[in-house]
Amino acid sequence: PISIEFDQETQDAAAQKLKIGLYFATWWALNVVFNIYNKKVLNAFPFPWLTSTLSLAAGSLIMLVSWATRIAETPKTDIDFWKALFPVAVAHTIGHVAATVSMSKVAVSFTHIIKSGEPAFSVLVSSLLLGETFPLPVYLSLLPIIGGCALAAITELNFNLIGFMGAMISNLAFVFRNIFSKKGMKGKSVGGMNYYACLTIMSLLILTPFAIAVEGPQVWALGWQKAVSQIGPNFVWWVVAQSVFYHLYNQVSYMSLNEISPLTFSIGNTMKRISVIVSSIIIFQNPIQPVNALGAAIAIFGTFLYSQAKQ
Ligand code: 3PG
Repeated sequence: PISIEFDQETQDAAAQKLKIGLYFATWWALNVVFNIYNKKVLNAFPFPWLTSTLSLAAGSLIMLVSWATRIAETPKTDIDFWKALFPVAVAHTIGHVAATVSMSKVAVSFTHIIKSGEPAFSVLVSSLLLGETFPLPVYLSLLPIIGGCALAAITELNFNLIGFMGAMISNLAFVFRNIFSKKGMKGKSVGGMNYYACLTIMSLLILTPFAIAVEGPQVWALGWQKAVSQIGPNFVWWVVAQSVFYHLYNQVSYMSLNEISPLTFSIGNTMKRISVIVSSIIIFQNPIQPVNALGAAIAIFGTFLYSQAKQ
């Protein structure tokens, strides 16, 4: 009987590994598709405030339809849930719009190289604002992360300050999003998929007035006409693809967050960035200098050292 139990345990562990592996592979694949279409749209239609709003609108629509048709179970929420969600949604909105503004100004690969520095922001915010302390190796691992990102930034051929700052603001906002959502998800019966759905709806409500104020319907209409005349009717499908894939990759990532530790999640996120950086460089044929690639490699190696040190 002991060996039967043991077999059952090994089988369960193998099934769990397979499940997480599938989540990760799906998450990365959806993310690569999002990044490619997002950049194709932004190249023809440089209005990141609208495209970020549309991604949230697509996600809200998908989830409202799924709830109405009972494909997904409607979450049971109360006012406390929405109150706790509010700061998460503010941080999610800022992080999302800032990353999209960044990608409208610089190569996708550059935005993601800077975004691979997110663990450094996490440690700095936790130490400086929350008074947490970490073992020395964790602090030391920040050196290659920060150094690598800095090297990649100063050797970037198409450096742009808004593009750089957008990615940095996104890093900071997402660290706060993670801190707030850890508190908000604790003890609640809302699972990963519905948690992300509520987050999307609230973020859409927050972002829409700002998008109208910053860009607005007039420039959107002119820009849209121009993009359709350049690209043809397919442009609409590019916008649909970037919006739907944005929702799907985030939904899968929140679903996997239910199953894994935040540390495994952040390792998965860094590996996701490697696949985005490599595929976008190939697809958009961005010129890169060896020293620039070295900076990216050092930064990413740093995030692996960081995850080892945190373990
Ligand atoms: C966004 O638009 O929100 C960013 O591309 C998301 O970045 P992520 O890779 O951290 O999800």
